[in-house]
Amino acid sequence: MDEPLSETIETVEQLEELLSRPTPEVVAMMGRLEGDLIVLGVGGKIGPSLARMARRASDAAGVRRRIIGVARFSTPELHQQLQAEGIDAIRCDLLDRDQLAGLPDAPNVLYLAAMKFGSTGNEAATWARNAYLPGMICERYRRSRIVAYSTGNVYPLTPIERGGSVESDPPGPVGEYAMSCLGRERIFAHFSQTLGIPVTLIRLNYACEMRYGVLVDLALKILADKPIDLSMGYFNAIWQGDNNAMTLLSLTQAASPPTAINVTGPEVLSVRQVAEEMGNLLDKRVQFVSSESGDALLSNASLAYRLFGKPRVSESQLIRWVVDWCRRGGSTLNKSTHFQVRDGRF
Ligand SMILES: NC(=O)c1ccc[n+]([C@@H]2O[C@H](COP(=O)([O-])OP(=O)(O)OC[C@H]3O[C@@H](n4cnc5c(N)ncnc54)[C@H](OP(=O)(O)O)[C@@H]3O)[C@@H](O)[C@H]2O)c1
Repeated sequence: MDEPLSETIETVEQLEELLSRPTPEVVAMMGRLEGDLIVLGVGGKIGPSLARMARRASDAAGVRRRIIGVARFSTPELHQQLQAEGIDAIRCDLLDRDQLAGLPDAPNVLYLAAMKFGSTGNEAATWARNAYLPGMICERYRRSRIVAYSTGNVYPLTPIERGGSVESDPPGPVGEYAMSCLGRERIFAHFSQTLGIPVTLIRLNYACEMRYGVLVDLALKILADKPIDLSMGYFNAIWQGDNNAMTLLSLTQAASPPTAINVTGPEVLSVRQVAEEMGNLLDKRVQFVSSESGDALLSNASLAYRLFGKPRVSESQLIRWVVDWCRRGGSTLNKSTHFQVRDGRF
């Protein structure tokens, strides 16, 4: 499974294969893990390739287990696709108590359901999805171990030279979306402690692949001759395949009270430098607006690297892949990350 990575990614099929290719460590861990695995919120940007990696790793380890993927399936084709790939796809609105009660039990839960974009103006729904639903999930899956996605947005903006927030830093969410994500963490922590549920909280900063992510936002703007906003002048990014591997490995770190783990790439990337590098590769002159501030939303993921090893795909490889993909007009999800936002309004 530890094959060399190709220089370019030509097709969606090749991309999906790479995103879901398990590392030897993931195969070994999934070989040792007992029982089925359920992915709650499988319908979004991360869920499908994460569920596929879990399927492939279990098969490679020779373990028979159900991988179950749950969503409302707003994208209906995905239901069929996952079924064909050996993932039991179940339609369910997790906020509906009866539907949630009807889901199969599983000792391993990955929790991805969340609301970010459109949260400004829909504050009540945002809190219900991000902070109330986690309590319902803990009550339903009280005998499971849970890996729940959180976000680097629970931290405040930090001075660039600090190299990013670490897990022991006090939270400082900016804006109501980020506050609701801290609410999600607190609710998981509460039920982890009162019901004894082992939990890992993944504080992710910008998973990136060819169809979505900060690098895609930058490349598409440059190709369209649109100016690059420098007000959030720095960021972290991680190849979504590495994020998937770390998420599965973090099942081994679930504890009560929860273990929080930052997941992102090792580099503090400068928007200006990355955009200029992309401009050179694309033979485009890059225009900038605004200017860098002394702080940005950054995380330090040293703990994750100590536990799971460093990401296999470097940021420079990711930049080359994304530029190549966007130059050829490869398909994108047409969803912006809005990474420039500094006031927390999404
Ligand atoms: N992508 C990133 O770079 C990033 C960065 C930081 C943190 N995160 C966190 O990582 C997690 C997963 O990210 P993502 O990018 O895959 O998020 P996403 O694209 O929003 O996917 C979450 C999926 O959960 C499903 N869902 C939402 N509400 C549901 C409900 N009531 N019942 C059933 N399913 C529901 C939705 O699918 P349906 O509409 O089909 O139901 C949705 O597509 C989220 O918690 C997010 O906060 C992601």
